[in-house]
Amino acid sequence: MNTSRAGESSFDASDTSADREMLDPYEASARYYDLWHEDFHDDVEFYLRLAERTGGPVLECMSGTGRVLIPFARAGFEITGVDRSATMMDRCTTKVSFERADVQQRIELHHGDVEDIKLDRKYRLAFMPFNSFLHLLTTADQEKALHNVRDHLEGGGLFSFAVFSPRLDRPEHLVRHRGTRVTTQGEIISWFEAQTFDQGNQRTTVTYFYDVSRQDKPMRRVTTEFTLRYLFYREAQELLSRCGFEVIETYGDYRGGEFTATSPIMAFVARKT
Ligand SMILES: C[S@@+](CC[C@H](N)C(=O)[O-])C[C@H]1O[C@@H](n2cnc3c(N)ncnc32)[C@H](O)[C@@H]1O
Repeated sequence: MNTSRAGESSFDASDTSADREMLDPYEASARYYDLWHEDFHDDVEFYLRLAERTGGPVLECMSGTGRVLIPFARAGFEITGVDRSATMMDRCTTKVSFERADVQQRIELHHGDVEDIKLDRKYRLAFMPFNSFLHLLTTADQEKALHNVRDHLEGGGLFSFAVFSPRLDRPEHLVRHRGTRVTTQGEIISWFEAQTFDQGNQRTTVTYFYDVSRQDKPMRRVTTEFTLRYLFYREAQELLSRCGFEVIETYGDYRGGEFTATSPIMAFVARKT
């Protein structure tokens, strides 16, 4: 495995509200990410099917803890992951170190921002899974990232991403219990979610509360807040076209179903023009 690291990112709970958008939510919550998401494989199969069409090498933008990246390397693809969270990347590096030597050799990890990272390779497929695109909060950020991804694709290479289809009728005053799990260390972790919408700016702020308890210790709460810039179906297509991609397929689920008004997700497959 090859790794490269940019400047360290930091999480400081004393930061003021003016800096809130600058805080990286993954620094505080990375250790809980896999607990809930590691078993989710539907999108892994979706992106693997695309890689079987294009061949490698493959670029995963915003690769996090390696939930998708590691299965790609196990399936025989050379894959590069880019992520700006040092903590998520550290978890990925640890997980990769437990893989077989040949799997490790197919993985490259780079700490950096998809908007401006420069890699010395071109890829046949790039993808950005699991709502990650919505972390790009302005049109300028979205366009910068798309142009940069395009620069890393070979001629005719494919780019794919999937995001939730916005449901703006979610009640803002409810806290949802997303589940309770017990870790191997015996911690009982309950995950709660609250969500608010800023429709004028097409953003939603999601707050996660992780209540961590054990029978013999007082409970502690870890709070993390994400602002996402949600996207609409047509807007995403226009954005891709503007940034030098031709949208060749769209889906409303990871099994290849058509996008409809009730689809949970919107998945796009676009070719570099
Ligand atoms: C929802 S997680 C997805 C992780 C992984 N791809 C998966 O599907 O499980 C989003 C990831 O995007 C990363 N991220 C957010 N904005 C980024 C940016 N501009 N450049 C690089 N990574 C970014 C975060 O650090 C986080 O690890």
